[in-house]
Amino acid sequence: MMEFNDIMQINLTDLDLDVYENLKIVEDVKGFIRQQQLYNAAIKEIRTKLEILDEEFQVQYDHNPIHHIEYRLKSPKSILQKLKKKDLDISMSSVRENLMDVAGVRVICNYIDDINSIANLLIGQDDITLIEKRDYITHPKENGYRSLHLIVAVPIFLAEKTEKIPVEIQIRTIAMDFWASLEHQLKYKSREDISEELRQRLKNCADSITQLDMEMYEIHQEIAVGKDRQTS
Ligand code: GTP
Ligand code: MG
Repeated sequence: MMEFNDIMQINLTDLDLDVYENLKIVEDVKGFIRQQQLYNAAIKEIRTKLEILDEEFQVQYDHNPIHHIEYRLKSPKSILQKLKKKDLDISMSSVRENLMDVAGVRVICNYIDDINSIANLLIGQDDITLIEKRDYITHPKENGYRSLHLIVAVPIFLAEKTEKIPVEIQIRTIAMDFWASLEHQLKYKSREDISEELRQRLKNCADSITQLDMEMYEIHQEIAVGKDRQTS
């Protein structure tokens, strides 16, 4: 990531701008960096909340629902591309109002029932506001894509005010993540649209993965019940 100091080292006088334009660029850059800091803070808050939930599950139920967490801040280039694609105003207030996925967190769960447990516990927290929920597990996309998508707003407490920042959270199992990662790579590699036959084969893979997720879940349940019987 470009640091603030790197940006300040660009010699603005070389850009052949007048004083007013120089000042405006510096203000814009400062504002942009400030905004990126807010989104970074929101990612940290969500990660911490998720880690605390995972640890609590470990202590209470001897089970970690979360396999691992990934996160990313949308790059300035992707932000601009998305604003242009959607024909939106190019400004920071436009980013704040229209783009809900500048801060992104992906939660990879072990078992299919862990997804709703984690989602509901997170949404239930007092300081979290649910903005949107898209359940591509109950209703998978036509290509076979499955995941639970949440957009939540989390408060960031600053020195003088509190800002509510949106974060897109994708929650999925290891198996769903395996399919989505490879499908994403294949789409990216093929450049043009893939044939109907390949599309169908990818969909078949998604169906097999759904079966595997169910079977692994059931095996886990049976082992857990067996363990409970032994200890009670
Ligand atoms: P955006 O304008 O991109 O936000 O579109 P949307 O809001 O209609 O998208 P949605 O919320 O359904 O999905 C957003 C994100 O989910 C994408 O950026 C991907 O990370 C992931 N995603 C959605 N559909 C697919 C898919 O078919 N394959 C893969 N691999 N990922 C997907
Ligand atoms: Mg979206």
